[in-house]
Amino acid sequence: MYAIIGGTGVYQLNVSIQNLNIETEYGDVDLDFIEFDNGEKVYFLSRHGKDHSKPPHNVNYRANIMALSLLGVKYIYATAAVGSMNKKFIPGDIVLVNDFIDFTKSRVMTYYEGETGVKHVDMSDPYCSNLSNLFLKRAEESKVDIKGTAIYLTTEGPRFETKAEINMYKNFADVVGMTSVPEVVLAKELGMCYATIGIITNWCTGFKSEITLHDIESSMNMNKEKLTELFIDIFSNENLNQNNCKCNDSIIKL
Ligand code: HPA
Repeated sequence: MYAIIGGTGVYQLNVSIQNLNIETEYGDVDLDFIEFDNGEKVYFLSRHGKDHSKPPHNVNYRANIMALSLLGVKYIYATAAVGSMNKKFIPGDIVLVNDFIDFTKSRVMTYYEGETGVKHVDMSDPYCSNLSNLFLKRAEESKVDIKGTAIYLTTEGPRFETKAEINMYKNFADVVGMTSVPEVVLAKELGMCYATIGIITNWCTGFKSEITLHDIESSMNMNKEKLTELFIDIFSNENLNQNNCKCNDSIIKL
């Protein structure tokens, strides 16, 4: 089964939607099950809740990913709003996230609390390279412009960064957001293939202009519909399997 996290925007298409509430040991999760005209079925999970009420530091990441896993999801495309600290990427651009740096401070990041022994998850390919490459291929065929690959630095939020912070971060990463960690880590712990497409919504603090809500919303709206269509296209037409990646075999036991 397939899921899209963070994305909406297909609701105007001819689809049947079922609202689900899935209970997990970490809390319950609202999501949508969508069946398209072509028979394709996808779960949609709105990361911040349907009413966008959960700030990034309070998203129940463990419940979200566990709910998808309980539903049998193996493949996830996530979209993420990010600020740019790399002059190559301007607001409105789409990038493929290929690695992360974690500057969060107070999040639970694992399902492995020690009850089943000490386990570590391999992070040498955090974003599934197979799903990522399929995305690049389909995007090119569909003439959707992907500006490049980007390292995503995750901050705790909900505040934006200071100029001094961005001055430091820009040496290590291309974009900043508040949600990719721990989502990507938890998906890997549960053996799922997970890829993230970043939508550049603004210049980071100290770059060019002030951050405004309008910047963020208009870039998201411009892009989320076309990205959702690409994801569905991949889910419908590619024969996805886990033979070309190690996502299902990333736990290292001590
Ligand atoms: N910083 C952190 N998170 C973000 C930003 C930003 O500039 N833009 C969108 N999410």
